[in-house]
Amino acid sequence: MEQHKEKWGSRWGFLLATAGSAIGLGNIWRFPYVTGVNGGAAFVCVYIIAILVVGLPLMIAELAIGRAAGCHPAWAFDRFTAGKRTPVTDGLGALMIISGLLMVFFDRPGYAILLLVFGIFLSLKGWKCVGVTTGVIVPFIIMSYYGVIGGWTVIYMVKAFAGGLEFATPDQAASIFTPIARADEGQEMILCGAHGLFVAAAAAVVFWGVRNGIEKSSKVLMPLLFLLLGALVLRGISLPGASKGLKFFLSPDFKALGPESVLIAMGQAFFTLSLAMGITMTYGSYLTRDVNIIRSSLLVIGLDTLAAVLAGIAIFSSVFAMKLDPAQGPGLVYMVVPSAFNLVPGNLGWLWNGLFFMMLTIAALTSFISLLEPLVGYATRQFKISRHAAAVLCALCVYLAGLLSAFSCTDWRRFRTLEKFFKTFFHDAGPSFFDMADNFASNWMLPLGGLAIAAFTGWVWGSKRAVKEVRRGTKSGRLDTNLLVLLAGFSAKEYPGQSLFTPAVLWSIAIRWITPILVIFAFLYGIGAL
Ligand code: ALA
Repeated sequence: MEQHKEKWGSRWGFLLATAGSAIGLGNIWRFPYVTGVNGGAAFVCVYIIAILVVGLPLMIAELAIGRAAGCHPAWAFDRFTAGKRTPVTDGLGALMIISGLLMVFFDRPGYAILLLVFGIFLSLKGWKCVGVTTGVIVPFIIMSYYGVIGGWTVIYMVKAFAGGLEFATPDQAASIFTPIARADEGQEMILCGAHGLFVAAAAAVVFWGVRNGIEKSSKVLMPLLFLLLGALVLRGISLPGASKGLKFFLSPDFKALGPESVLIAMGQAFFTLSLAMGITMTYGSYLTRDVNIIRSSLLVIGLDTLAAVLAGIAIFSSVFAMKLDPAQGPGLVYMVVPSAFNLVPGNLGWLWNGLFFMMLTIAALTSFISLLEPLVGYATRQFKISRHAAAVLCALCVYLAGLLSAFSCTDWRRFRTLEKFFKTFFHDAGPSFFDMADNFASNWMLPLGGLAIAAFTGWVWGSKRAVKEVRRGTKSGRLDTNLLVLLAGFSAKEYPGQSLFTPAVLWSIAIRWITPILVIFAFLYGIGAL
């Protein structure tokens, strides 16, 4: 498999596009409410640790694999194993087949079929199976519900600017949000249209390619996003009573922190950094050799965390200043925030809400673009079609799959046959299709994919070779300098010599041991096995 010809035009273009992928609904919709109910600053501390021990090593690994392979994840792993099977995939494949057979005895036909199919595919195709799963199947599943939320934000943005969000209490807000979430009669066309518009906008960007589409749009959209975020923060913190919101969001409450918070922080790290969904590896495959992967990863993580914290400050300062209830969980952004902006003196609720939902639409869109890109990259190679054709076809498939989530977001009432199918084969149909897709992707596929990527980097490709790839673009040799020397602010040249306490060694230990072990715990807990 030959390498891509397409590359990023500049480092900044790559950084902004990767930050655009990372900063999404996970930061603005999920992070603030999860932080609010999990101990504020105490949770932020745990989250930062999760980012450093799980997120950062995996991000570096994905970028390194992507750049060294120079192709889509579906073929990337095979470039290092020459397409041969390895003990890791053979072992995992056998484990899956045995589990699948056991499921037959436990009368779980759905799980049995899934495990047997994956097990056989993994045993026969080895790492290609991991590449196709993380680089095609996972982004597809995530897009099937992510695009629906994107559609809602478009509806809210238009409604806000048109003066249609002028409610003052979350109860009144529910009368607008619930029919949209439930896809009630009368909302169908609006939902289909908004969802379609959102998917089409992302497809239009991907259609024009890496440099002319993704990179150029990120250079405009990301500064705009931070500008809007800045304006909303200033509006929020200048309101009387805003400090109570900041206290709620940022003062540490270690009592609210439990073992679950650690796992939530880890799950958040995966989702927000776009890990194990084919994105980071694909973006890495467009990287040139002179880019410093570690510095770039740290910058992306910094921008991502900054956006999440700024969103939390903007949201909680306004919500507390207007004396509304912050503990609304997922409804915070669609019900409480618009009410808060409507109560702000000056009758400019339409403007603040419009700007807020514009910011949320941009965040969701740049992430959606990055989810669509691996699919399009795969289709162009696999089916030998042009990028233009692939973008249109993939967007159409994603749109159609998204309709399932759009019309089964809160319940199954429109898809009783599908519900019956899941109940028969899996003994569980969850509350809705939307919920199932999210649960399958976030709790199963992301940790398993992350584990496979860490195992591949640390044990199959080998941390020694991986470090060699990471070293490219790091001219100053900091990667191999004793950490104490770096922390003290001395230059590497002043303290030459062998040392084991270097960033490269730490990363190798993390990717071989710490990251996989933590991900295994997170996975077992996430599926209720611990
Ligand atoms: N990283 C993206 C988000 O946080 C998927 O929404």
